[in-house]
Amino acid sequence: MAQQRSGSRRAGRSPLVAALVALEQLPGALGTALLALGVLVFGLLVAVACLVGVGLLAAPAAVRGLHAVADRERSRLGRWGPEVVSPGPLPERLRAAAADPATRRELRWLVGHGTGGLLLSAIVVLLPIYAVRDLSFPLWWWAVPPGAASDSLTFWDVREWSDVPLVVGLGLAWTTLSLLVTRPVAALLAGRGRRLLDAADVDLPLRIAQLTATRAAALDAHATELRRIERSLHDGTQNRLVAVTVLLGAARRAVPRDPAAAEEILERAQSAAEDALAELRSVARGILPPVLADRGLAGALSGLAATSAVPCQVAVDVPVRCAASVEATAYFLVAEALTNASRHSGATRVAVDVRSREGRLGVRVTDDGAGGAVEGAGSGLVGIRRRVEAHDGTLQLTSPPGGPTTLTAELPCGS
Ligand SMILES: Nc1ncnc2c1ncn2[C@@H]1O[C@H](COP(=O)(O)OP(=O)(O)OP(=O)(O)O)[C@@H](O)[C@H]1O
Ligand SMILES: [Mg+2]
Repeated sequence: MAQQRSGSRRAGRSPLVAALVALEQLPGALGTALLALGVLVFGLLVAVACLVGVGLLAAPAAVRGLHAVADRERSRLGRWGPEVVSPGPLPERLRAAAADPATRRELRWLVGHGTGGLLLSAIVVLLPIYAVRDLSFPLWWWAVPPGAASDSLTFWDVREWSDVPLVVGLGLAWTTLSLLVTRPVAALLAGRGRRLLDAADVDLPLRIAQLTATRAAALDAHATELRRIERSLHDGTQNRLVAVTVLLGAARRAVPRDPAAAEEILERAQSAAEDALAELRSVARGILPPVLADRGLAGALSGLAATSAVPCQVAVDVPVRCAASVEATAYFLVAEALTNASRHSGATRVAVDVRSREGRLGVRVTDDGAGGAVEGAGSGLVGIRRRVEAHDGTLQLTSPPGGPTTLTAELPCGS
């Protein structure tokens, strides 16, 4: 209804008013187009520097610039129409950004807006300036020094009043052209921006497919986790408790006949009960490590590093806490990477780097071992991928023969 009303209001506008409204938008478009050109030139310089092997460090800055200009255009478009939904925090690292569909669409928008968009918006902003200048020409041309009076494009050097109508005619032509092209150009720039930058409807089927896949993986991971807990309880705790009941029965029967033997059986029952308790504790720790709640992510990771068989350096920069399940995923990832490093890599040191920025938690574990890690050869890395993707995060493993091995994950903080 509201849309219909605004539609009929728009339909009732005179071409002049519609052109003026469209004209209002174009200085903003020109501004974002200039920014887009700046980022484009910077990105090209970084790409050239990368080719000669020195630009990799500046690549995240170029990606950040791309996101920033795209966000500015989103808010500009939002001021002149429905809100343009931001896709949320986007990756900044070059490889993740190159694989991210929303970032690729932002790049397409940037290239078009920083070149063609810049040209069109500059022309449309200049047209009314030229029109006013040439239409007002009779009022001031005689006051400027001889030889300095000409039309806006300097076609005519005006020295006589007889030439003045030509300039005014040109002013009328600029006015007509401005009325004709301002609206279509504003609509073209806005339409393209909305199509490429709005996360609400762009690639919705792809997003649904991704979420369906990660939901299935999450359910799968959940079922695997339940099976693991069930196996631990069955094979560990339950067996020990069965032993406790058997031993207690034997002790009861032995008490009247042989109290000394009964005492020895009771001692065995007690130690079986203690084992069952220890098993239970370790199962509970595997579900959600209590150390996370007690000491936070930084403390929990330092604890892991302290017990690692390979010397491990931990750097954590996480100013605000993430959701408990996200912290647990980061914790299990580091635990698996440290176990793998000590079991398979022959590394002499491991570095763990965890930081959060713009609502995303980045985790990187690097060992200087022999490399050659293969996802799928065991269940550890596959399980970590499932956990990470269940949170809509990304996981990358690089482990060339000869090393080093790096496991990188990025997770939405979710709090
Ligand atoms: N840091 C590493 N350095 C070298 N090779 C590795 C490293 N991490 C894993 N690998 C190799 O990749 C394989 C897969 O690792 P993954 O963690 O998935 O399984 P696993 O450690 O063998 O078994 P599980 O984790 O299920 O107990 C390992 O068998 C090992 O050969
Ligand atoms: Mg493993």
